[in-house]
Amino acid sequence: MLLAHSSGGALLAVAAHHIEPTLVPDVGYTEVVAVALSARGTLLALPSGDRVSLGQFMLLTVFRQMRELGRHCRTFVRVDRRNLRSLALCDRVGLRHVVDDPSDPTLVQRWGTLPE
Ligand SMILES: CC(C)(COP(=O)(O)OP(=O)(O)OC[C@H]1O[C@@H](n2cnc3c(N)ncnc32)[C@H](O)[C@@H]1OP(=O)(O)O)[C@@H](O)C(=O)NCCC(=O)NCCS
Repeated sequence: MLLAHSSGGALLAVAAHHIEPTLVPDVGYTEVVAVALSARGTLLALPSGDRVSLGQFMLLTVFRQMRELGRHCRTFVRVDRRNLRSLALCDRVGLRHVVDDPSDPTLVQRWGTLPE
């Protein structure tokens, strides 16, 4: 689990990931990304100069941690089909391969490759 705090200690964002136990080899699955309402719309500058949302920054940090932990290069999330903000975030981070979730028709899986 990753937490992002302001310099004053307020919780701004959270992300959590784990290995998907039904998949072999070790495929990383992101369980949750959430940004505090007060922090929505915050943009950060990456070393590359790209500007990213706080949610995108958290997901990119998750991907980096997955790499460091030796997870499989493919990764995915499950998203409620109505959650347009989450789907837009998936598009921004490259989770663009759409797969129906076999366990729940209201969910869609979004797959992509961990960045180098
Ligand atoms: C899904 C979520 C994590 C995405 O957070 P995020 O990537 O930080 O940013 P948001 O989608 O909230 O977008 C904030 C605004 O910044 C904009 N934005 C995002 N990236 C941008 C960029 N690089 N440049 C300019 N604007 C950008 C968005 O378009 C949005 O603008 P809008 O409010 O006018 O539509 C966040 O919306 C959230 O916490 N939702 C509730 C929890 C949730 O549903 N989590 C997913 C299921 S676990």
